[in-house]
Amino acid sequence: MFSASAYSAQMKEAASYVRQQLGERQPRIAIILGSGLGDLADSLTESIYIPYGEIPHFPLSTVAGHKGRFVAGKLGQQEVLCMQGRFHYYEGYDLKQVTLPVRVMKLLGIETLLVTNAAGGVNASYHPGDLMLIEDHLNLTGENPLIGENLEEFGLRFFDMTVAYDRQYRDLAQQIAAVMGLPLQHGVYAWLTGPNFETPAEIRYLQTIGADAVGMSTVPEVLVARHCGIRVCGISCITNMAAGIGEGLLSHEEVNETADRVRERFIHFITALTAEL
Ligand code: HPA
Repeated sequence: MFSASAYSAQMKEAASYVRQQLGERQPRIAIILGSGLGDLADSLTESIYIPYGEIPHFPLSTVAGHKGRFVAGKLGQQEVLCMQGRFHYYEGYDLKQVTLPVRVMKLLGIETLLVTNAAGGVNASYHPGDLMLIEDHLNLTGENPLIGENLEEFGLRFFDMTVAYDRQYRDLAQQIAAVMGLPLQHGVYAWLTGPNFETPAEIRYLQTIGADAVGMSTVPEVLVARHCGIRVCGISCITNMAAGIGEGLLSHEEVNETADRVRERFIHFITALTAEL
């Protein structure tokens, strides 16, 4: 049975450890780096590394292509706290564990979350390698990290999700992409648990209900971030066309290969965006 008081105590211990490691630094922006996109953290300067394994009560990331640590440092002129590797529901963690880092971010004073992921393109006009600004999401799992006793110190039991992905940040991302001459798709991200990629029938269903991209992350973190008032900006890297849309079969290798190919553009864009958040 979920114990709110034990969970609160755990996140406070975790936050206090991370705060100690951060010393004088006070990042206001956190960036969650998705599958194959973790290299962005290597372009920070004055970096401090905090492996998840050293943080009390933190789970460990088990996915190939995910490193499993916080990297705090400067991206351009901005102090940021990056998650190089995140936790997924399909790894066997419950959603309270998956989203623990977001609560820790809140306790550390993070005000803005830039969340990224690798995703399958459901919108047939997309191409592998496209970046997509997340405008909204579909939670198709029937799961929610906020089920159970509400943690009043973080937010309301019933909270608004009308503009979960901050409108001002969306406008900003579009403007920055336009100035950079970077094509930026915008659309709806659908969350399914994985770990399997979807069936073609599931993808046809997603198309009819208005999804543009599909993935196995992000939504739980965004729910917890919005619950506690952290502003959210979301970017998907379309690493492959979803099942049945493109030719051939899907693989984690393809996801990582495309993410690799997009790396420079992705880092450039996220750096420019972060400078304006
Ligand atoms: N489906 C689900 N998750 C994904 C995909 C996909 O096609 N590509 C990258 N993450």
